[in-house]
Amino acid sequence: MPSVEDYLLGTDDTESVRLGVQHRLWAVQAAAIWERAVIEPGSRVLDVGCGPGYAAADIAQLIGPGGRLLGVDGSPAYVSQFEARMERLGFSHAEVRRGDVHDIASIAGDETGTFDVAYIRWVLSFSKDPDRLIEQVHKCLKPGGRVAIQDYFGYASIKLAPKNEDFQRGIAAVAEYWTEHGDLDVMGEMPRILRETGFEVREFDVVQRLARPDNQIWNWPDIFWPSFIPRVVEAGYLTRADADAFMAAWRAASESPDSFLLLPPVFEAIGVKR
Ligand SMILES: C[S@@+](CC[C@H](N)C(=O)[O-])C[C@H]1O[C@@H](n2cnc3c(N)ncnc32)[C@H](O)[C@@H]1O
Repeated sequence: MPSVEDYLLGTDDTESVRLGVQHRLWAVQAAAIWERAVIEPGSRVLDVGCGPGYAAADIAQLIGPGGRLLGVDGSPAYVSQFEARMERLGFSHAEVRRGDVHDIASIAGDETGTFDVAYIRWVLSFSKDPDRLIEQVHKCLKPGGRVAIQDYFGYASIKLAPKNEDFQRGIAAVAEYWTEHGDLDVMGEMPRILRETGFEVREFDVVQRLARPDNQIWNWPDIFWPSFIPRVVEAGYLTRADADAFMAAWRAASESPDSFLLLPPVFEAIGVKR
């Protein structure tokens, strides 16, 4: 059974703040998939691996007090932050439960089979058993219910321009380390998993974004490297010298008007429960 404790990115305060910034930087894409999956006033929504509740707060606002938002996450810290956030906002229709998302049907209890939409963003790439996770989510939805997914395929295609070997060595190490804990190509399996689990694949597409140093989205990798690269070093996938060279290459790129970064492609899927 996959463990929640060994979650790759950790759950300290820095990571919680980073998730908030990341949510802002991807808010347009999130709102768009919620609309296409038909999250509307009164909807019953499951937020699978909800983290501290940044997306959940927006969804809770969209569905209103006549709706229901249930978040599930393995991190005690994120569960507390979720609860504090919803209390501050006065969203009594939003609840969080701590547990492993691979058991989400039993965590949802009596509500299993009643949800209109399940949202899963950047959780499947940390899963050791995505087939089981999607199977469990399928149980939680009512017939005709939708699952909306945003996650990676081809993460290692991140590329800095002008080309820089020190930077690319770091990316290769990030991908290698991540692969120990999950699957950065998980969306490559998603059409099959959805179909085999009993979903009709209504949408499957990719969002490929490009960052330049003066774009807002440059901030996304810019806040990720300082928090994640030290973990990659600690785990032995990158030497300290190579990590320093990686960060030096990144800082130099950040100062240059000629740089750009091909970001990891984020794939989007909407499945409808048959
Ligand atoms: C990168 S964060 C994404 C959070 C949120 N979905 C978002 O888009 O902002 C991944 C989240 O999944 C949670 N998570 C990862 N594996 C889990 C598991 N097996 N069971 C429960 N939660 C898990 C982590 O605690 C973390 O909050």
